[in-house]
Amino acid sequence: MPQNASLRSPWFAPPAARAWRCAPAPAEVRRFHASLPGYAPTPLTELPPLAAELGIGRVFVKDESRRLGLPAFKALGASWAVHRVLAERDDDGPVTLVTATDGNHGRAVARTARLLGQRARVLVPRGVHPRAVAAVAAEGAEVTEVPGSYDEAVRRAAEAASAPAAVLVQDTAWPGYERVPGWIVEGYSTLSAEIDEQLAAAGIDGPDLVSVPVGVGSLAQSVVTHHRSRRSGNPPALVAVEPEAAACVLASLTRGAPVSVATGETTMAGLNCGTPSSIAWPFLRDGLDAAVAVRDADSARAAADLAALGVRSGPCGAAALAGLRALLGGEDGAGHRAALGLGPASVAVLLSTEGPDANPYAEP
Ligand SMILES: Cc1ncc(COP(=O)(O)O)c(C=O)c1O
Repeated sequence: MPQNASLRSPWFAPPAARAWRCAPAPAEVRRFHASLPGYAPTPLTELPPLAAELGIGRVFVKDESRRLGLPAFKALGASWAVHRVLAERDDDGPVTLVTATDGNHGRAVARTARLLGQRARVLVPRGVHPRAVAAVAAEGAEVTEVPGSYDEAVRRAAEAASAPAAVLVQDTAWPGYERVPGWIVEGYSTLSAEIDEQLAAAGIDGPDLVSVPVGVGSLAQSVVTHHRSRRSGNPPALVAVEPEAAACVLASLTRGAPVSVATGETTMAGLNCGTPSSIAWPFLRDGLDAAVAVRDADSARAAADLAALGVRSGPCGAAALAGLRALLGGEDGAGHRAALGLGPASVAVLLSTEGPDANPYAEP
């Protein structure tokens, strides 16, 4: 299917893209998470009414509304990256972990710092709900509100991390800052590993499609890495979903080169990012099968429908369903279904990356 010119239209990779392969994440990550107090795999819940609606065989939702004591998946990345950062330091003195956040990542870094007896400094851009800001501060972090976008908050965090005994733990990369975000991406691999085990327990070899909410694309990079490093099985279609107000990955894929977009306002606060992560970009370009942008109203409806089926999703988490609906519904649905290789027996997994408690915009 040709690339679409309009940024509001979905993007599709050529079908050959699914043959692309990369190296896997280290197996040690899974063992590290399993050793953490309070670790348990998050639920993978089957929702037959969604399969019927979407015209596929089975739909499962990976429910990250309770992960390591927080209401989003982000602690997987922060815990592993901070573990690696501290392991590499020569000096045992206290350290300040610095980061910018739309809410969830900063809270996870602040929680990790507190558990390890370290300090955290978190910079928060405009538009993050005051209760989400308060939740970061409640973890004991020093919080600074930045009167600008997420990208601006990231720039300020990088500056703040030049202070003595400070380390930047950012979940996005740029040229010259790649190691720590690489560890964060590795940390997310536990989520996909759990899904494999949970599907196997249900007698399923692997998904045929995974729908991923995308901000800077680090989570999507991890999902691409997981599925494109497997040598066996049918490679699934991997779909990125962004808010219309911040569709930097869709814009980049459509243009064939990474671009920044001016971000607007969206209830999907964790996805409100204007620049793809530099280390994610090659994985997104070569490993994704489709990208789509959704409106706040679509994600709100998806969250309400998921809630009615017993799964608690915040606006970012519900974007995974909203995006799949946007692709498979409507008059182009049959063509999109064919482009993604889906049929009546296909298995889809939606990553519901946060619960409503993570993002107060979820509340009416
Ligand atoms: C709840 C939630 N879902 C998805 C994402 C997207 O992750 P990434 O920025 O790695 O694309 C984020 C990022 O903060 C998030 O908080």
